[in-house]
Amino acid sequence: MIAPIVRSLSALREMSEPWVRAGTSIGVVPTMGALHDGHLSLVAAAKERCERVIVTIFVNPKQFNNPEDLANYPRTETEDARKLKRFGVDAVYVPDGDVMYPDGFSTTVSVAGLTDVMDGIHRPGHFDGVATVVSKLFIQSRATDAFFGEKDFQQLQVVRRVARDLDIPITVHGCPTIREIDGLAMSSRNLLLSDRARVRAPILFEEMEKIAEGVAAGKDFAPLRAAALRRLASSDFTSVEYLEMRANDDLSLQDDPVRPSRLFASAWLAGVRLIDNVAIGRD
Ligand code: PAJ
Repeated sequence: MIAPIVRSLSALREMSEPWVRAGTSIGVVPTMGALHDGHLSLVAAAKERCERVIVTIFVNPKQFNNPEDLANYPRTETEDARKLKRFGVDAVYVPDGDVMYPDGFSTTVSVAGLTDVMDGIHRPGHFDGVATVVSKLFIQSRATDAFFGEKDFQQLQVVRRVARDLDIPITVHGCPTIREIDGLAMSSRNLLLSDRARVRAPILFEEMEKIAEGVAAGKDFAPLRAAALRRLASSDFTSVEYLEMRANDDLSLQDDPVRPSRLFASAWLAGVRLIDNVAIGRD
């Protein structure tokens, strides 16, 4: 079954109204398209848990801090619709820009604390854009459940905070990172890697795993980190924005993780920004 593509808010409301009235569970999977198996794992999780599933595709201009990044972002709507076919989702919501941000739009949802670190620093304004669009998507879809990837762990925690703070009645589910066979975390931006860079890209995860395993085995973080930075520098990574251990819940910095923690990294490879995170020990 090909899912209906819905482009207007009124059509989305018309569709979901009877579901809401009947108390049906509705899962929403927000995406920016260029769907890969990471996205599709969220769709599968939503299908498993919810009676109705809405996938949203919207390349949200408000969360891009760099106009070139927005212009280069891959857009593959026909392919995306084809990939969704086998899941039997109920709707693919692809709102036009002015459905999300009509003339005069002037509200921003901004989360303090969790956004003061990592991508919050390196991508100024990014999480305001994410929090604003996700709030709208939650309200528009009237979903009972939402599905996000741990690939963007900071985003997942920000979105959980938005739902809690704004009393949006939705359960946010975090789903594990899906990787390529060589360990590279799947990402729409991987399409932008040159052949040479694509071969180098898994080194980031490889080095992160070494650190995570070392720390879990009781070794000191600092020398492990230094060794990883050396290998990355000699493997075409031009800059590492951060490579740090942080607590899962409040993302506070840890150097000896007694609390459940993850290792987070962002690094540039041949003009593409890669991010990843791995659990230290058991999650
Ligand atoms: P996008 O990058 O398209 O990702 C959509 C969802 O897919 C996010 O929840 C992301 O964490 C998840 N995802 C991406 N790669 C994944 C992987 N390899 N394994 C598991 N899940 C993965 O994240 C966004 O879009 C936007 O910020 C959005 C939330 C849609 C708001 O505009």
